[in-house]
Amino acid sequence: MLPDLAQIEKKALQLLESVQDEASLEAWRIANLGRSSLLMLVFDQLGKLAKDERPVVGRRANEVKRALESAFSDRSNTLHETALQHSLQAERLDITLPGRAIPHGRLHPATISLRTAIRAFADMGFQVYRSPEVDTDEYNFGLLNMPPDHPARDMWDTFFTSMPNVSLRPHTSPGQIHVMRQYAPEPIRAILPGMCYRYEQINARKETQFYQLEVLAVGKNISLGDLKGTVSDFARRIFGQKIRTRFRASYFPFTEPSAEYDFECLLCNGKGCIVCAGTGWLEIGGCGMVHPIVLKNGGYDPAEFSGFAAGLGTERIMMLKHHIDDIRYFWSNDMRFLEQF
Ligand code: PHE
Repeated sequence: MLPDLAQIEKKALQLLESVQDEASLEAWRIANLGRSSLLMLVFDQLGKLAKDERPVVGRRANEVKRALESAFSDRSNTLHETALQHSLQAERLDITLPGRAIPHGRLHPATISLRTAIRAFADMGFQVYRSPEVDTDEYNFGLLNMPPDHPARDMWDTFFTSMPNVSLRPHTSPGQIHVMRQYAPEPIRAILPGMCYRYEQINARKETQFYQLEVLAVGKNISLGDLKGTVSDFARRIFGQKIRTRFRASYFPFTEPSAEYDFECLLCNGKGCIVCAGTGWLEIGGCGMVHPIVLKNGGYDPAEFSGFAAGLGTERIMMLKHHIDDIRYFWSNDMRFLEQF
């Protein structure tokens, strides 16, 4: 039996030489060290040997087994190492390549501008009130003292919807009625920010959508002086103490008296440019003392209460601040513009 064992060992080690991958290594293990391998057969037959032969053959069989097991694990290590080297070569990772930058989101400049304006008014004690972007004819016009067919409705080129009497709000003023109806007869100091839509001829100053911020104060003894002071203070909070403001008498059906107010054009320092249409002033919005009929529609007694209202276009503020000479940049999605803020 000893020559058999020598033969088994020699043959097995020879075969192992030619094993090149994990699968044939496993096949080799089953054939040479598995249950029905020749080597195991020797162990099975030990019992049948003569008493004095048993320990000699047994020891030798164990030697062969250990030799094969250690050759197996050596081979296995070599195969692993080769496979690793191979994949390192094939899937080479260049750690000197710069990493991919994670794209950072940012706020849209129109949002930044709206929030800056909101903050300035919040500092003056105004609360934010949200009113609908799509509203009824009654709120957009009727309750603001513009009955159907009132010619003043022409001032707002409105987007109508396929639903009768429902339109995209052309201004934030309908929010005045919403907030008054919610709080009457409490005094109000609120701002109503939001997107407005107008069927406009688009140019450097006008877009079909823009943010507006409505300012409303209702209470006892509120005067035109409060209105002018609030608007001028807002201008100074945003542009610094030197900014000049002016009020021009105007007309709105929902305020009396009414005015439009301008901030000095900072793009040309009042000299006149394409953004301010050569006037040196940029129109920011309309304002006035809340009309008695509107106060009544909101649930306040005009004999007891008065109020002021103003609307401002917040993209215009951003334009003044950053010398942007065309409002169309805001919604034309040019990243070169948007990424600057
Ligand atoms: N809603 C008016 C507009 O969009 C502006 C305005 C607001 C005027 C408040 C007076 C008072 O033109």
